[in-house]
Order: sequence, then structure tokens, then C-alpha cells
Amino acid sequence: MSDPFVLDESVTVTRPVAQAFAYVSVFSRIEEWDPAVARASSLTAGPPAVGSEFLVEMKLGFSLRYRIEELDPDRRVLMSVESRLFSAREEILFEALSDTETAIRYIASFQFPSSLALANKLYPSAMMKVGKSAMKGLKTALEDEYKPPPMSRAKALADQWILPGIWRFTRLGFRASRKSWKPMSAWLGGQHIIVTGATSGVGQAAATSLALMGASLTLVARNPQKAQAVVDQLYRATGNKEIAVEICDMSLMSDVHALADRLLSTGRPIDALVNNAGALFTQRTETPEGLEQSFALLLLAPYILTERVKPLLASTGNARVVNITSGGMYTQKIRVDDLQSVQGKYAGATAYARAKRGMMIVTEEWASRWHNEGIAVNAMHPGWADTPGVESSLPGFYRLTRPLLRTPHEGADTAVWLAASAEAGKVSGKLWLDREQHPAHLSARTKETPEERQQLLEQLQQLMSETRRASRDEQLQG
Ligand SMILES: NC(=O)c1ccc[n+]([C@@H]2O[C@H](COP(=O)([O-])OP(=O)(O)OC[C@H]3O[C@@H](n4cnc5c(N)ncnc54)[C@H](OP(=O)(O)O)[C@@H]3O)[C@@H](O)[C@H]2O)c1
Repeated sequence: MSDPFVLDESVTVTRPVAQAFAYVSVFSRIEEWDPAVARASSLTAGPPAVGSEFLVEMKLGFSLRYRIEELDPDRRVLMSVESRLFSAREEILFEALSDTETAIRYIASFQFPSSLALANKLYPSAMMKVGKSAMKGLKTALEDEYKPPPMSRAKALADQWILPGIWRFTRLGFRASRKSWKPMSAWLGGQHIIVTGATSGVGQAAATSLALMGASLTLVARNPQKAQAVVDQLYRATGNKEIAVEICDMSLMSDVHALADRLLSTGRPIDALVNNAGALFTQRTETPEGLEQSFALLLLAPYILTERVKPLLASTGNARVVNITSGGMYTQKIRVDDLQSVQGKYAGATAYARAKRGMMIVTEEWASRWHNEGIAVNAMHPGWADTPGVESSLPGFYRLTRPLLRTPHEGADTAVWLAASAEAGKVSGKLWLDREQHPAHLSARTKETPEERQQLLEQLQQLMSETRRASRDEQLQG
């Protein structure tokens, strides 16, 4: 072994020390801030702790295995590093300079095998350069002053040609898009976020990421046992104990009103609401309240919940609503004369797509109405993600496309980004896939007229009032 080569770099960032520490100690996020890193991942489950391991793949083609050896929260992380080229000890020190400023010092001591010692002696400046650019990247990531990405004309055009656009729904699209993403260093400690449909697929993955970012979560679920299992799993995965459950069948408006009443009665502000609960039904069925179930679950329920808890969103002065739609909505126009699919032969995929189209219209409407109240409202679609919902409702599609489906985390990524990132908070009323803006329509055929838009909103508003009255009457009688 040669003499150790030592790097010692410091930066000052405008972030509280706890936030800087939380971001850096999940070391797989190094891929966001070190330009020399191609990919990084956690090899161990759970929040960062002594013994946590990370695999860091470098753009130069070799990989590093990091292990946390010592961890002193908000002060210091000491890691050992093994690779085929060298071994190292890396220490990252944090010092609060004020409530909003933190000094971060990175000290790395590398040991090269004697065969590489000469190269190391000849090229120390290359190592210095890599260290400096990593610290510069970390500073930029933590300062988090990115602008939201504008709509790319090329991608909007590709969307209109079905094949060039649709491959983006697959895991390949996710991987292509992520190359241009900005770091997401948001810390959500103290923020209250509600996720509906958090017991499976996209919603559960979104809840996991938000819990890891420190959010205090309320999971809305219909099955108490499933919900408790998810709370336990989230705690094991993230160490976050601030996870509450609200039981609500989102296809029953009496349940949705009762949920809104409970949330309003606490007066607890809501920083973000993720309207995710959903399903695709093959048969036309009416709920016990006499509503067609796709319409009830996918459009009326999120409409009522969001409208009713709006005062709690507005009270934060900086809230987000994230509506999960579907690429399927590109095929449909809203049918204001048949919101509940009474006419003609029922097709579940059509009813689903129309309800999602309705959510897109509502997204645009809320965005423009609530702009001055500091509520950003956006819609996203997850692409095609491998979730229990897709497997059970579209078995043929699932079998055919399985190798191309994204993971639930990849599907949920944009919802998390819209709920959490500083850059996404600066934009409202748009449709997103993989942190990129996409057009809400691919064809003039699916565009509603201003009158149709108005009629949709009036019908939703009327159903909200009627179902509220009915649930109040029910409460009085029962
Ligand atoms: N996966 C995709 O490729 C894809 C594509 C486009 C859009 N989406 C949308 O993404 C969202 C999540 O879908 P997913 O694929 O993750 O499906 P999923 O795995 O089936 O998860 C759906 C979630 O919604 C909940 N839910 C369903 N009906 C409910 C009800 N009546 N009351 C309360 N909760 C209910 C489910 O609860 P249980 O666990 O109790 O069933 C589950 O937590 C949906 O809005 C879906 O339309 C998904």
C-alpha cells in the first residue's frame, strides 16, 4: 500500500444542519450531487445507521462499496469505502453556523495498492478535481434553487405520434428521463402529507419516499389490517414514526365526507394531498349510494375530499395537491351528459379514462382558482408500473408488458417530486410524467368546450352538496 492520499474540502450551504445531514446521510443520493457518479443504491434496508451499506457506480466504470462505520446525527458520518482500485475512509462533518447555514467538511483518506501508487502520485490533481466538483454539486443540490422544467417541444410532438411517445411509459422512459433531473434535497420534517390508496403499488411507494424525507403522513386506506402492515413496513424502511391512518372507503361519499369532517375537526394544516386511490373495474357496478364506481372512486371522491379540506391546504400558504391520472385519459373526452356511464355498453377502461380526464380538468380549474392562496395543483401519470392493481385489472396487458413495466417506486417518483421538491412548487395546473411536463391532450378530439367544463364542475359541486346532505341525514338518524 502507498501512503494515504488525503482530500479535505469544505462548503457552506444555506440549509439548517438537520436538513443537510438528513440529505447527505442517505448516501445513495450521492448520484444526485456528485457528477462522477453514474448510479447509487442502498444495499441495506432501513434508515441510515451504523452498518448501512451503499453501492456507488462511477461513470469511469468501477464501483465503490460504502459502509457507515460511525454516525453522530447532525454532526458526523464516517464511512469506509472498498473498491478494486483503492480503499478509503471518508468523513463528513456538519457544523451549524446559524439556524439556516451549515458548514460541511469532507475529509477522505485514500489508500492505493502499490501497483497504482505511481498513477496516484502523477495525477493527484485529478483526485482533487473530483473532490471539488462533488462538493460544488452538493452545495448546489442543497441550495435547491432550480426552476421547474418547461415543456419540451420535441417530447410534446413525440407524444402525438403514439409509439415515440408511449415508450416513455415503460421503465426505459423512466431511465431516459432521469438523466436530466435536478437533485431533490427537500426535507419534509414538520410537513403533513395525506396519501390516499397508500396500501399498495404507487401510493405505498410514494408514502415510503415521503416518509424517508421526514414527512408526517396520514395514510387513507379502506382496510385497517393492510394499513397497519404498511405503517409497520414504513417504520422499518424509514425509521419514521409519524404515520397515522384514516380508514375510508373512497368509493363511498359518506365515508369521504366523514373523513373530511375528521380532518377539518383537528384543524391540522395539510401541506400536500396526494389523490392516488384508484382501480379499474371491468363491470359496471353501482356503489350502495347509487353511483357508478369508477366515477365515484376516481373523480367524485378526490373532488369532494380536496374541495372540503381546502381550508387546511390554504392555511399552510404553500401547499400542493397531486392528482394521479393515467395516460389512458389521452383516449377520452369528458362526457358531461353521461358521467356515470349509463349509456351504451359499459367498458371499464373507457369509464376509467373519462374519470381520469375529469381529474385533469379539475386539476387545471383548481390551479387557476387557488393560485392566490398558495396551493399548487398538478396532475401526473405514473407510466406503466408493475402494481397489484395492474396485475389484477389488466392481466393480459400485464403478461405482455411485464418486462417493460416500471417498479412502483419509478411510477410514484413524479408524485413524490410534485409533493416535495422546491422546483415543482413553482408550477401549477400541469400534467407530468417523469418530472417532465406533457400536454394534457394529444388530440383536439378530447378537448372539452368551456361549457362542458362548466357543466362538469357544476355536476361535481351538486353531487358534493347532495351527498353531504345525505350523510348528515344518515348521521342524524343513526
Ligand atoms: N400502475 C400503473 O401503471 C398506473 C398507470 C396509470 C395510473 N395509475 C393510477 O395510479 C393509482 C394507483 O394505482 P396502482 O397501480 O398503485 O394500483 P393498486 O396497486 O391497486 O393500488 C391502489 C390503491 O388504491 C386503494 N383503493 C382502491 N379502491 C379503494 C377504495 N374504494 N377506498 C380506498 N382505497 C381504495 C387500494 O386499496 P387496497 O389495498 O385496499 O386495495 C390501494 O391502496 C391509481 O389512481 C391508478 O389509476 C396506475
